[in-house]
This record gives sequence, structure tokens and C-alpha cells, in this order.
Amino acid sequence: MTATSVGIAHPPPRLTWGRVELRPLTALDRHAWRRLHAHFRDPEIAHLNGTPPSRLPLWLLRRMLRADAARHDRRTFGIFDEQAAYIGTVELYDLRGSEATLGIIIGERSHWSRGYGGDAMRALLAYAFEQLGLERVRLHTFGDNERAQAAFRKVGFVERQRQTGQRGRVDVHMTLVRSAWFERRGAPIAPDPGHASPASASAGGADAGG
Ligand SMILES: CC(C)(COP(=O)(O)OP(=O)(O)OC[C@H]1O[C@@H](n2cnc3c(N)ncnc32)[C@H](O)[C@@H]1OP(=O)(O)O)[C@@H](O)C(=O)NCCC(=O)NCCS
Repeated sequence: MTATSVGIAHPPPRLTWGRVELRPLTALDRHAWRRLHAHFRDPEIAHLNGTPPSRLPLWLLRRMLRADAARHDRRTFGIFDEQAAYIGTVELYDLRGSEATLGIIIGERSHWSRGYGGDAMRALLAYAFEQLGLERVRLHTFGDNERAQAAFRKVGFVERQRQTGQRGRVDVHMTLVRSAWFERRGAPIAPDPGHASPASASAGGADAGG
């Protein structure tokens, strides 16, 4: 698979890292969808995410998210903890060429600042760089979301730009490039934009040390 053929792998596989398993959205059961609905309605999470709290009924939200997840420029996963409990979602979106944007919500407050977000991002980043062959993953968050910035830095994201948005909230743009991912992984692999072959098909494995 090359970086330019990322559109063909649907639905994406299950991925593991540390204590988490990522499952494609199509694999979510009724209970997981109810928790996801609660996360999307939560005003604090919505604020952290820069969106209004969802007012959609569960059936409509599920239909919309399933349709979104089926897009060729997206890979969306539910995050499950070591008890197989659904705790949030993580995704790559705007997948174009060899780049994509990462988004993550750990919706269960009981799981904040306990490393679950880091594990989920590492599972997704291993998939992005080692299976999809991407060169760069970017994200944006808000200046007041210190926990998110700390979590992103821990997995290797580097701040590139900070700008004040229309409503006075500071946007923080961060990126992680392929070479930096493999440096942290401990197995550097020279990027080859013309033939971006997947390094290792396994997304599971040891902590990247971030
Ligand atoms: C942001 C998020 C994905 C991070 O995942 P997480 O599992 O909570 O984060 P981790 O435990 O991997 O890392 C968080 C780090 O930030 C630190 N931290 C927590 N609060 C902090 C604060 N106010 N300031 C600075 N650092 C903070 C933690 O101590 C931890 O570092 P440590 O492991 O060195 O102690 C998760 O908290 C979340 O989804 N929050 C709600 C929605 C959200 O903010 N999404 C991101 C939108 S861009």
C-alpha cells in the first residue's frame, strides 16, 4: 500500500497499543454508541473540541458518523480500555496524499490524564505511518487546552504555529513527521516519497517512549 492509495482500506483494521484497542466505528455496539452520544452532548468536551454540544438524537448522530467514517479521506475508531469499555474516539481525517489530520476525544473523565489518550494516538500513528505510509500528521487544538497539548507533545507532536482565532481563542497547530515517529519508535526507516512502503504491519507494540 502506498501513501497515495490510502483510500482503499475500508473498513480499517482493529489496532492495539498499550492498554487500548481501537475498533472501527462499524464495530461499536449499542452501549458504546450510547456513551459516544453522551460524549458529543457534553458541554465541556464540546468546548475543548471547539464545537457546539450535539443536540442530535442518537439514531441521527450514529447515521451521520457512520456516513462520515465511510469516507475515503477518513479513518475513525472507537477507543476501548483494558476492560473492553468504550472510552472515546480517535480519527484521521482530511487524508490527502501523504498527510492527514488527527482528532481525539477521550469522553470518559475517569480516564483523563492516565495515558489512554497517548496509547490511542500511538496506535493510530503507527497505523498512519507504518500501514498507510503517511509523511505527516497534523492537528490543531486550543491554547487553553493544556492537557491536550501535553498529551500531544508526549507522543511527539511539535508546535508549529499559534494564532488568535476569530473569537479570540488561540489556535495551536502541531505536526508529527514520519522520520520523528520512527526515531521515537527506535527503528528509523528512511522515507521514500515515491515508494512509501509500510514498514511493519503491526500497529501494536512497545511504548514509543514519548
Ligand atoms: C486531550 C486528551 C486526548 C488527552 O488524553 P489523556 O489520556 O487525558 O492524556 P495523557 O494521560 O496521555 O497525557 C496527558 C498529560 O497532560 C498532563 N496534564 C493534565 N492536565 C494538565 C494541565 N492542566 N496542564 C499541563 N499538563 C496537564 C498529564 O499529567 C499528562 O502528563 P503526564 O503523563 O506526564 O503526567 C484527553 O484528555 C481528552 O480527550 N480530553 C477531552 C477532549 C479534548 O480535549 N480533546 C482534544 C481536543 S484537540
